[in-house]
Amino acid sequence: MAKLTREQERRHAQACQLVELDRDLNDDERLFVLDHWQESATSTNASDRAFFTPAGLARDMSMDVEGRRILDLGAGIGRLPFHCRDALARYEYPQFVCVERNPAYVRVGRRVMPEATWICADILDLPDMLDELGTVDCAISNPPFGPLPRRRDAPGGYTGRRFEYHTIALAGLFARRGVFLIPQLTRPRSGAPAVRTASRTPATRSTASSLPRPVSSSTRAAR
Ligand SMILES: C[S@@+](CC[C@H](N)C(=O)[O-])C[C@H]1O[C@@H](n2cnc3c(N)ncnc32)[C@H](O)[C@@H]1O
Repeated sequence: MAKLTREQERRHAQACQLVELDRDLNDDERLFVLDHWQESATSTNASDRAFFTPAGLARDMSMDVEGRRILDLGAGIGRLPFHCRDALARYEYPQFVCVERNPAYVRVGRRVMPEATWICADILDLPDMLDELGTVDCAISNPPFGPLPRRRDAPGGYTGRRFEYHTIALAGLFARRGVFLIPQLTRPRSGAPAVRTASRTPATRSTASSLPRPVSSSTRAAR
């Protein structure tokens, strides 16, 4: 685990105890786990660019999310869907599908967001599951940024190294709308042919896009 303060270690241990409880967690307990369970508890967090979203940013992002069925790509332990729940309370029976490849995160995520369907998989394998999963109203993600080793490309033609663009291209296969937390510098240019950027200030790094289907034309903007 990365070097933590004593206090961080103590709270992480408390979060682990909550995860192990033999009953459902209440909302305060789920929030405690989200706030204090350390992503560095697993050795692959650096290579997977696993840096969980702070609560405030997740809340800001949730304001752009619309629809009843939401797909989180690289869900970590469920921070984004947890905060989207309230924003989507106006929909009857909102559904969340969380995809995350780290099994330790999935295990914790199932305790934080038990109402979601959790899939422990590489998001780049999702096209093989399209029939099974079906489409969603909105894809959300705080994807790993930058050049990250990957086993395959997302469909749509982008073959560059930036993982966030593979995530966005992949989202286009499942959803007409997507909300992503991406670095300001790699944000697709407003007016790019296939990804129309809607609102958000530079500081929030949140991008709400109408997603193309198919996504091939986004490749020019994304490289
Ligand atoms: C920046 S973190 C964000 C986590 C969470 N969504 C949040 O907002 O707190 C990116 C997440 O993507 C996961 N991840 C990285 N590569 C992945 C892949 N190929 N397939 C599925 N998940 C992946 C990491 O393990 C990590 O949990």
